[in-house]
Order: sequence, then C-alpha cells, then structure tokens
Amino acid sequence: MEIKIQSLDHIHEAAREFIAAMGDNTVFALYGKMGAGKTTFVKALCQELGVEDVVTSPTFAVINEYRSDIAGELIYHFDFYRIKKLEEVYDMGYEDYFYSGALCFIEWPELVEELLPGNTVKVTIEELEDGSRKLTMENQG
Ligand SMILES: Nc1ncnc2c1ncn2[C@@H]1O[C@H](COP(=O)(O)OP(=O)(O)OP(=O)(O)O)[C@@H](O)[C@H]1O
Ligand SMILES: [Mg+2]
Repeated sequence: MEIKIQSLDHIHEAAREFIAAMGDNTVFALYGKMGAGKTTFVKALCQELGVEDVVTSPTFAVINEYRSDIAGELIYHFDFYRIKKLEEVYDMGYEDYFYSGALCFIEWPELVEELLPGNTVKVTIEELEDGSRKLTMENQG
C-alpha cells in the first residue's frame, strides 16, 4: 500500500493510516535515503501509539525503547546507521528484540538485512520533488 504525506502537517493522519494497516506484524524495516523522513515518521507513529516521552532521534544510540501508554507495551526503535560489523548487532542481543513480539521500527535495515526476521514488513520512504513524502508498505501476507 502507499501513503502520501503531503507535509509535516499531515504526518499524524499518515501515521494513523499506517497503524491501521500494520495488522499483526511487529517488525518494520524503514528504507529511505538520509533525510527521507524515517525518524520523523517513527516519532509520529510512536505519538499515535500513545508514547508520551519525547521520541528523539536515535542517532547516537542504536536502540531506543519507548513505552506506549495506550497499549502499555514497549516499542523499539533502531538506527543501524553506525553499525560497522554485524558482530555489534549480535552483541546487543538483537534477537531478544526482533522476536519479542514488541513493535520494532528499524532505520537503516540494509545494514542488518540478513538478521531481519522473515516476516519483516518493508517500508520505503521517499522524498518527492515538492518536498512531500511517499511511503510504501509492502503487501502483507
Ligand atoms: N513528511 C515530511 N514532510 C516534510 N518534511 C519532513 C517529513 N519527514 C521529515 N521531514 C524533514 O526532513 C528532515 C529529515 O528527517 P529525518 O531525520 O526524519 O530523516 P531520516 O530519514 O531519519 O534521516 P537519517 O537517515 O539521517 O536518519 C527533517 O528536517 C524533517 O523535519
Ligand atoms: Mg533517522
């Protein structure tokens, strides 16, 4: 499916649309160039999911953990941009997160591609010429 985000003013409605389409899936890999809007979208998703703490960019931390006050559940937000060796990802115990059943949103998944669970949902965010964003979520099986 495709979700158009016309501007930042529309990001929350886009996030709600995304959440409605998530189904039972828990692991979401967000592809997109630097500055495409991955962190911003995860932040909007977390807000719509009831996370009250400010969701900051995980630029310096690989894993950020948020608690949804609506669901009372944890949400994990990963940014693998700075990963140099897959070993670092093994060492942080990635399986405990990816297979926990908790929601996982992953930036720069291409750096850990071979570790992504088989049922990971691929999401692509693209900036268009007019500055709007096009988000694509792969068909769910
Ligand atoms: N939907 C949007 N509409 C307009 N501007 C946006 C949108 N999403 C993000 N931006 C702007 O684009 C910039 C980069 O966004 P963001 O940090 O979310 O990108 P990113 O994909 O996470 O980048 P990186 O790969 O560096 O982590 C920010 O200034 C943000 O305000
Ligand atoms: Mg980012």
